[in-house]
Parts: sequence; structure tokens; C-alpha cells
Amino acid sequence: CGIIGFTGYTEAKKVLIDGLTALEYRGYDSAGIAFYQQGSIKTIKTTGKVSILADKVAALKIPDEEGSSCGIGHTRWATHGGVTDTNAHPHTAGKVTLIHNGIIENYRELEIRLKEEGRTPVSQTDTEIAALLLDSLYEGDALKAIRQAVELIEGAYAFCIIFADQPEVIYSLRNSSPLVACHAKEGSIIASDMVALIDYSKDYFVVPEMHVVTLTKKKITLTDLDGNQVCPRMLHVNWDMTAAKKGGYPHFMLKEIHEQPDSLRNTILPRIQNKLPDFTADNIPDSLFDGITRIVITACGTAMHAGLIGRAMLEKLLRLPVTVEVASEFRYQDPIIDKNTLVITISQSGETADTLAALKLSRERGASTLSIVNVKGSSIARESDYVLYTHAGPEIAVASTKAYTAQLACLYLLAFRFGFATGKLEKEVCMDEMQQLLSIIPAVEETLAQDKVIEEISKQLTEKEDLFFIGRGLDYALSCEGSIKLKEISYIHSEAYAAGELKHGTLSLVTEGVPVVALATQQKVYSKMISNIREVKARNAFVILITIDGQEAEPSIYDYHISLPEIKDDYAPFLAAVVLQLLAYYTSLHRGLNVDQPRNLAKSVTVE
Ligand code: G6P
Repeated sequence: CGIIGFTGYTEAKKVLIDGLTALEYRGYDSAGIAFYQQGSIKTIKTTGKVSILADKVAALKIPDEEGSSCGIGHTRWATHGGVTDTNAHPHTAGKVTLIHNGIIENYRELEIRLKEEGRTPVSQTDTEIAALLLDSLYEGDALKAIRQAVELIEGAYAFCIIFADQPEVIYSLRNSSPLVACHAKEGSIIASDMVALIDYSKDYFVVPEMHVVTLTKKKITLTDLDGNQVCPRMLHVNWDMTAAKKGGYPHFMLKEIHEQPDSLRNTILPRIQNKLPDFTADNIPDSLFDGITRIVITACGTAMHAGLIGRAMLEKLLRLPVTVEVASEFRYQDPIIDKNTLVITISQSGETADTLAALKLSRERGASTLSIVNVKGSSIARESDYVLYTHAGPEIAVASTKAYTAQLACLYLLAFRFGFATGKLEKEVCMDEMQQLLSIIPAVEETLAQDKVIEEISKQLTEKEDLFFIGRGLDYALSCEGSIKLKEISYIHSEAYAAGELKHGTLSLVTEGVPVVALATQQKVYSKMISNIREVKARNAFVILITIDGQEAEPSIYDYHISLPEIKDDYAPFLAAVVLQLLAYYTSLHRGLNVDQPRNLAKSVTVE
């Protein structure tokens, strides 16, 4: 969910609606705002997009002189309770009005207790229970009531709270769910991420867990739960609002796909010293691998798919066993990890609840931890021993694109540096790999130039119901990513299959006209792959073949052929990823869907 709170010197409703528009990618089932106006709190909420909320607010025709300068706003991704106007945030109980991101796990227990006191919720949300609880504890001292509530609430949360009898003041606190805050000339602002603040300031702080933030128009005060004042640790972002806007592209996803050469450049170039990979500026010492006997990569979604590719490179160069685990499974498996294990967590947002929990578990068990994260100062970054930031810039489209390729680049850099540092990779070979890695940047640019060809091919997919992605080795790992990308935004069912495994079951589903995206970029298994393609073509599948320039393919085995710039096997995923991203993008577009905000999904999943 997206959260924003503002108290200051300009019209709050505008700041809130602008902020929610920027935050909408975090959830878009419903939206709402609450603000002080002429002595009382007014709440407006609705199901649907922020634009519907904005229309509702405009329809109130509140004259400027009656405007408000303090309020809170929320854009929802439903967890507890269906998508209804009543379930939308803010929720009010007595003097308390609040918004919430997260899940209150013991809400049933709290609800029973509150009902016994005659306090009955009107919505089906866990959030309203928090409002009722806080109101039951509030006797004029906000900090005291918050402290008492925190002792009773179990779960993950970020709250922004306003009290009817404390105009112009916002209280906020978090446990797990993210919150950042800044003070600017317009006033004080708090939000679930930086895209809502960047219009006002590039300097901000991440709210520490279990601390209360008190926002007034003049200042922001941070205190621990005992009321002791704490000095916030200020951070600075080096991107501006243009990075978080569409910049002439019809969708964020297309813009972000096209930003990949830049994002790769920004991720790779600062880590080169004397033609070798170098993590001095990242404060990652070569001793990191001392005594390490095993690597575990854990992540969710697309980030996990990046891990699948990284694993191959790390194993190959470091000769250490590497496993890739879905974070939501890993954390409940009583994993065998110890001080000789390096756990690498990968996350664009740095806030995914399951990934964060997997990281915390790894630390408890004594593992060394390194995270590959895009958002500076995010929870995963702060919890890790070491952080290797992807410098992809803000990624807004729900479907991850530029973060994925930047994550691959970081994993390759890690493999190179530690291959070299542990003596497994000779200096010249390491330099050569770095050269290859750099060469993907112009090659990605060349691949992007095939945009229109890929759009044409995608038109053949718009009416299809099922689709298969097949490949071997790195192409199989990439198939997993191609499949999720297509599924999440085009709603076409698809599966990724190791090409050699097709004949053990899935081939029965391949009938006339069924599309098969066949990735054949790996020279070492090329002829085997071609045999698998023949198998599907013999069943009259509709084959989209992806190869590297120079690889022979007879026209009888494909319907469409996309050829990528010549590149070594290990680097082909960077290029093929771009093709699969564009294929998903245009398929969704030609099916008339909301590319950037697919149904039921959210960009940053801070609940488990
Ligand atoms: C959500 C997003 C995916 C993303 C995954 C992991 O499901 O829709 O695009 O890959 O979360 O997110 P993270 O921020 O941890 O990379």
C-alpha cells in the first residue's frame, strides 16, 4: 500500500493527491484521504484509482480560504477485507483517524476484546481494529496511546495517525513496513517511499523501526517509544522527479525497458578500477569469502529469477555450491545455514516482507549476508552485513525490468571480483570477463532497436490462452522470467520449461498453433535445443525462435525468428531478457490491459 502524510504551508489535498498518484504503483484497489478542515476531520475515500478520488475531492468544490494544510492519504492493495469503499483507508474511530500498510496478525483477538467494550468495526479490515484500539487508549497523550497500542499489536505495520483534537499534527510509526520522511519549505512530509517526497526534497530519512515520528508544519521530531528524542540519519537521493515520470513514454514499463543501457552503465562503471571489478566504494572486503563453503541466494519473483542466472555464474567461477531459494519457502524450511554460508538476498524495493524475513533468519543463524538492492536505505539494505546497490533508478511499473538486468550485472560483478580475489580466476581472464560485461551495454541498445519487430510478433499472441517458454541452461532460467513477465501483465497463462524436460509430460499440451517461445542463445547446447524445437514444431506449435546472430536455423522450425547481437553464451541473458520484456509489454498493450498496474498485483509486497 502507499502512504502519505503532510502538514505544512500549502494546500494539503493537492500534496496528498500528487503523492498518491506517485505511490499508486504500490496498490491501486482503492484510495482515500483525510484532512483537517475548519476544525474537524473530513474523510473521502473510494474504490478504484487515485484519479477517481481526485475527481471526488474536486467535486467538493472547497473554496481556497477553507482549504486544509494537514492530512493523510492512502492507496490500497487489499489484504484483509474485499475492495469496497468502506474498507478503503483512512479509518476513523472516535478521535482517531489513521492509514495503515501491513497486516495486523492478532486482529481477531483484538476485535473480540474491543467488541466486549462495545467498540464494533464497520469495515472488514484489520486497520480499523487498530483505529478502535488506539481510540480506546487515547486520553489526550498521543505518544502514550501509541506506546500502549504497540504492546498489544502483533504484525507488520506503518501507520499515519491524526487525532481530532490535535489539528495540524501527524503521528507515525512503523514496524517492518517502510516509511521515509523529510522537511521542506512546504512543510513536513512522510510517505512509504521516496517517489512521493522527491518533488519537495532530495534529503530524507528512513524512519527507524519502533520509533514515533511527530510531524508539525515547522519540524519533524523522532522519538523512541520511551519518548527520548533521536537524531534521524539523513540520506540523499541522486535522482530527481523526471526519473519517476514517464518522460514521453506511454507507460513506465516501456520507459524502464529503454532505460536499461543507462541503468547497466550506472551499475557497472563505478565498480571498475584498472579494468578489474572493485567494491572498495561499496565497502565490501575481499575477506567476505574467507571460510565460505556455500552460497544461498534468496529472493521473490523476478529478483529470484535473477538469482537463477547469477547462480550459474557464481558456481562456474567460484566452484562453490550455490542454491536459489524462494524466500517465502526458505524461511519456513529450517534451512541449514551457518557462519560458513554466504546468503545473498536480492530485492528491487528492499522491502519485500518474505525476503526480509529470510535475511533476518540467516543472520540469526550466523550466516554472512550480502544484499543486492535498488532502494537506498531500505530495510533489506540496512539489515545486511554488506550491500551492493543496483543503480537502476526508481522502478515504477509493477513488472520489474531494469532492476532485473541490473541485478544480473551485480551478480556477475560479484562472481568476477570474488573469483579473482580467491585466486580462481586469473587476472587477464577476469579483465576479459569485465570487457564482455561492458559489451552488453551497446548490445542491449541494439536489441532495443528491434522494438517494432517484437511488437509485430506480439500481435500474434493477443488471442492465445496458453504459451510455453523453453530453453536449456541459462535460457531455461531466463524462460522462467519471460513466463512470469508475460503472465503478470498480459494475463495469458504460460509455463517455463527446461527444453529437455518437455517430452516427460508437457509435450502433450503442445498442439496446433500453441505458441512456444524457444530460447536458443546457448552455443554449447544449441544442437540439443534445435532438436527440442523440432519436437514442438512436429506438433505444429507456433514457434518464436530467439537465437544469437550467426547461429543457423532452418526456416521450417520457426514461424518468427529474432536474432540477437553476437555475444558469448554467459552474456546472452541480458539481451534475451530485453526481448522477453518487450514481448510481454506489447502483448499486454494489444490486449488493451493496464500494463503498469496489472490486476491483483502490487510493486512492493510488504506483507507475508
Ligand atoms: C512483487 C513485484 C515483482 C517483484 C517481487 C519482488 O511481486 O510485482 O515485480 O519481482 O515483488 O520484489 P522486490 O522488490 O523484492 O524485488
